[in-house]
Amino acid sequence: METKIIFIGNYKGGVGKTTSVLNFAEYFSRENNKNNTGKNRVLVLDIDPQSSLSEILVSNGGYGALSDLSAAETLNYVFDLYISKIDKYHSIELKFDNAMIKNYNKIYDFVPSSLFYQKNMGLDMLALKMKDDIQYLSILKNWIDTIKGNYDIILIDCPPANNLITSISFDN
Ligand SMILES: Nc1ncnc2c1ncn2[C@@H]1O[C@H](COP(=O)(O)OP(=O)(O)OP(=O)(O)O)[C@@H](O)[C@H]1O
Ligand SMILES: [Mg+2]
Repeated sequence: METKIIFIGNYKGGVGKTTSVLNFAEYFSRENNKNNTGKNRVLVLDIDPQSSLSEILVSNGGYGALSDLSAAETLNYVFDLYISKIDKYHSIELKFDNAMIKNYNKIYDFVPSSLFYQKNMGLDMLALKMKDDIQYLSILKNWIDTIKGNYDIILIDCPPANNLITSISFDN
């Protein structure tokens, strides 16, 4: 089955995007596991700099507080490394051990973003670092391509705003 990537986005704040992601993730995971394959085929990504979904999943998923996660356990790390590669280390091949992929109570997987990455470098600061330069546009897509084979559905919780991190093209 080809991976479906679903954005839940709206410019308006507080309209239920995050709540919808949580409900869809639970629903799709339970549908997926009806035949008890035991596989987690649903992944949730939080690309909202507010990291409210991450706060919920990290604490309710038994990982402690969001501020306790190490740098490499966040989506921020993926952006940070790709930005460095594009800016300075073109020839380096990036390999992730995917420590940022967590499991939520054996129901689905998720990747948290954090407000506390490298002394408060949230996704909003990382987006600023990209200075609206189109060369960074494919960062999230490139990383998703490395893991999407493991998932049937990837749900993305967006902020009520637009920037290089949210305007990703998933063509091809
Ligand atoms: N279907 C619903 N019925 C009633 N209340 C809801 C519903 N969905 C969400 N809410 C409530 O609305 C509030 C905002 O929801 P939520 O955080 O999901 O919005 P959001 O669009 O993700 O916000 P933000 O733009 O800040 O990310 C929360 O208090 C949530 O419990
Ligand atoms: Mg939200």
